[in-house]
Amino acid sequence: MKRNKQKKETTSLATCEKVIQENSRTNSLGSKTPRHEKHAKPNFRFQWHITDRCNLACKHCYIEDNNSVELSTEEITQVIDHLAEVLERWNYSGSVSLTGGEALMRRDFEKIVKAIRKHEQFKNILVMTNGVQISGETIEFLRDNDCAVQVSIDGFTKQQHDEIRGEGNFDKAIATLGKLSESGIYTAVHYVVHRLNCPTSIDQLKGFFSLFGQAAVKQVVFSLLIPIGKGREMRRLLLSPNEVRTLFNQLIEVSRDFPTVHLDTNRPLWAATEACSGGACPVGFWYCTILPNGDVLPCRRLPIVLGNLRNQSFYEIWYKSDILWRLREHRKIEVCGQCKLLDQCGGCRGMAYAVYGDYMARDPECFLLSDGQESS
Ligand SMILES: C[S@@+](CC[C@H](N)C(=O)[O-])C[C@H]1O[C@@H](n2cnc3c(N)ncnc32)[C@H](O)[C@@H]1O
Ligand code: SF4
Ligand code: SF4
Repeated sequence: MKRNKQKKETTSLATCEKVIQENSRTNSLGSKTPRHEKHAKPNFRFQWHITDRCNLACKHCYIEDNNSVELSTEEITQVIDHLAEVLERWNYSGSVSLTGGEALMRRDFEKIVKAIRKHEQFKNILVMTNGVQISGETIEFLRDNDCAVQVSIDGFTKQQHDEIRGEGNFDKAIATLGKLSESGIYTAVHYVVHRLNCPTSIDQLKGFFSLFGQAAVKQVVFSLLIPIGKGREMRRLLLSPNEVRTLFNQLIEVSRDFPTVHLDTNRPLWAATEACSGGACPVGFWYCTILPNGDVLPCRRLPIVLGNLRNQSFYEIWYKSDILWRLREHRKIEVCGQCKLLDQCGGCRGMAYAVYGDYMARDPECFLLSDGQESS
């Protein structure tokens, strides 16, 4: 009886593995990766929040509790070894985005990077930071360990950024970007947009791209505010679908004059703009988030706990989660399932969950089918 059960379980795991791998390979967007990533094999991305502690208190932050339990250095190392083994078994390469909170606040930050670098399966490490407190030694360490760095900029002007991230922090973040680029590190900027920090003119956007051109920034990523965590308070400041359309189209237009700064359009909703192809949500296929305590989420913007790596294997979480199996059924997503852009978009499942409490609902920010309605 027990043996039969075991056999059934092994068979169903093998079937799951095949379905996911085939989906990842054939998914038109699975093959599209940010420019700093170069790999011949399919790639799996782990966004790893190694701490929730932070030296800032940004208004929009999806983190509410900065004192969450953290895995020890030893536990993190064990998880890294396990994930490397998973990648090896799948014949995948992996990317790790180390983030937080402020990832650099962990005293064992360098040990964590070195533990990842021990495994050839992990091709890329991206460190996400607010850029306000990075020493010259840390920059050297990041360069020597081949880490790319993403700095958050949340304003087209210093005033906009500092209102959200605190006085003086725009200048510090821009100075950090310059130092990182000078040392030869691949740098990217991440911008979370809402009504407090929308551009007021095309000239303002041009100034923004020009600043990044001067700081040799390689890539700019725009995300929409997800009203969760502290950011819930800013729900009424979400852009309307029409405002998102206008902003995205303006960004595409302006970025053409700045070919050295790559505008990342490999994300949901961009496929519905005039000029580019977008990127489907990778959740459930080649992406997941790990929290400081080892909890696994489909995405940090979709905060539903699937399991915990302290007491479960990644296989168990990845193959046995009913939530992930639902998320993999793109055709069943409300409205998107029938949309011609499904394979390049599918909407943001985190936004649907934050606004409607249903991760299979339509994306409230979709401007293709909005007929100009405001998001509620
Ligand atoms: C949580 S931070 C951690 C790294 C670092 N502390 C920083 O600020 O860049 C990672 C990214 O998530 C973004 N973020 C935070 N709260 C968000 C929200 N409610 N919606 C969308 N993005 C958010 C931040 O602006 C930042 O670009
Ligand atoms: S967005 Fe980043 S810097 Fe700002 S409070 Fe959150 S974790 Fe800290
Ligand atoms: S309906 Fe869904 S898939 Fe189509 S453009 Fe809108 S968000 Fe994207």
